[in-house]
Amino acid sequence: MNAQILNGTAIAAQIRQELARETAALAAAGTIPRLAVVLAGNNPASAVYVRSKIKACEEVGMASELHTPAEDVSTEALLELVQDLNRRPEVDGILVQLPLPRQAATRRVLDAVDPAKDVDGLHPVNLGKLISGNHRLAPCTPLGIIQILKRGGIEIAGKEAVVVGRSDLVGKPLGLLLLHEHATVTICHSRTRQLEAVCQRADILVAAIGQAAVIGERHIKPGAVVIDVGTNRLTSAAEVEKYFPGDAQRLEQLEKRGATPIGDVDPRAVRERASAFTPVPGGVGPLTVTMLLANTLTAARLRRGDGMTE
Ligand code: GUN
Repeated sequence: MNAQILNGTAIAAQIRQELARETAALAAAGTIPRLAVVLAGNNPASAVYVRSKIKACEEVGMASELHTPAEDVSTEALLELVQDLNRRPEVDGILVQLPLPRQAATRRVLDAVDPAKDVDGLHPVNLGKLISGNHRLAPCTPLGIIQILKRGGIEIAGKEAVVVGRSDLVGKPLGLLLLHEHATVTICHSRTRQLEAVCQRADILVAAIGQAAVIGERHIKPGAVVIDVGTNRLTSAAEVEKYFPGDAQRLEQLEKRGATPIGDVDPRAVRERASAFTPVPGGVGPLTVTMLLANTLTAARLRRGDGMTE
């Protein structure tokens, strides 16, 4: 099958252009949206993500600030920092990068973020609004997936959507967003029986499991649209040869960087069977940061009562 590649990089660039225009208009009216990021501890992957979030703010003309409490930060110190950010009127969005260091009480910290500044959409108030379909700030990766589907010309209403993975950040909120778009939604997880048979029903199959290439030929209905949220790493030449046969660029990347990325979906199977799919890298990833910017703009507008009805 000649599958359509859903190019997340191109879709993200298009949305960022729109956001840059809207940010410039808001700035001309006296408001520059500001994102505050809290990066606690020494998680190297988190540091990379946060750098890309700060850089993305700059690129669309938003202001940002980075707070970096140490690895041994207490829950109380994090709560104080969040409360200070809540109080500062010029801060529109607050993002607490996860995971927090082990001793920190993650839920208490996330719950302390002012819901009006919760650009991650993880506060119970915003999650409650998501259930009713009345949301303004929803989690970024699920919002990005909806954008990929819509801008990729994929019809959602009436389709069978199967989401594999039930995380708070992706699987659960995405299930709700797809439901609000009128899909028939199934959420699968580690206890799901006959996973392959359930996935085979999907017109839209989303893999958000966090394990390399576990969704294969037997999960994908011919002609399905497949969205791959996974960001795993292959670290051996034998694995790269297996999943990307004859791909010299991948082998070179492995040699240079010690790893090459792979999603939760077997890249050989998806090309054979899907009608459209997101690649890894360059699929869902670029949209996550982009929707964080979109949420920051939304928060800035809502907090100023600008043109959006509650
Ligand atoms: N860590 C991995 N993904 C995310 C995300 O979307 N938001 C936050 N805050 N932390 C993350």
